[in-house]
Amino acid sequence: MDDEAATLAFGKQLANAIEPGLVLYLHGDLGAGKTTLVRGLLHALGYAGKVKSPTYTLVENYKIEQALSVLNLYHFDLYRFNDDEEWEAAGFRDYFNAESVCLIEWPEKAEKVLPLPDINITFTILVTGRKVTLDAPTRHGSECLTQVMKEISSR
Ligand SMILES: Nc1ncnc2c1ncn2[C@@H]1O[C@H](COP(=O)(O)OP(=O)(O)OP(=O)(O)O)[C@@H](O)[C@H]1O
Ligand SMILES: [Mg+2]
Repeated sequence: MDDEAATLAFGKQLANAIEPGLVLYLHGDLGAGKTTLVRGLLHALGYAGKVKSPTYTLVENYKIEQALSVLNLYHFDLYRFNDDEEWEAAGFRDYFNAESVCLIEWPEKAEKVLPLPDINITFTILVTGRKVTLDAPTRHGSECLTQVMKEISSR
């Protein structure tokens, strides 16, 4: 992905493939493009407002109106997360359910408490642009990635 626009475009392709119930881990260094991807995804889903890393609040909830329902999308940034007990106390566990999509920056900071991912998206910073690698540890995740690949190849 050569530039920010390419990361946003990938977010759009992902938006066309995501389904309720998915947990996506976003890996990569500071400034790698994780929030940019979430921004592209949310804008493709019709969210018009600002999207920034919820570094201090840890999570931001977006309610996406769909034809017959509302999709709850939770965007976590766990860079500053350091207290496993806070996880249960804050009720974060409940955010992971069959009707929600969870996108998690810095999952490494909460390994012990986080549900396992359906999809891992890993950004690597290159001299110009970013490399992105995808893998899907679950069947639900791999079905989604198959759809993403169709989106990409149909362009
Ligand atoms: N494919 C790309 N090529 C070059 N620059 C990019 C690309 N994608 C995003 N960027 C730029 O990288 C910068 C950092 O992006 P972003 O905030 O999304 O990083 P992040 O991974 O969320 O970082 P953090 O861990 O600090 O939250 C932004 O200025 C964005 O424009
Ligand atoms: Mg970020």
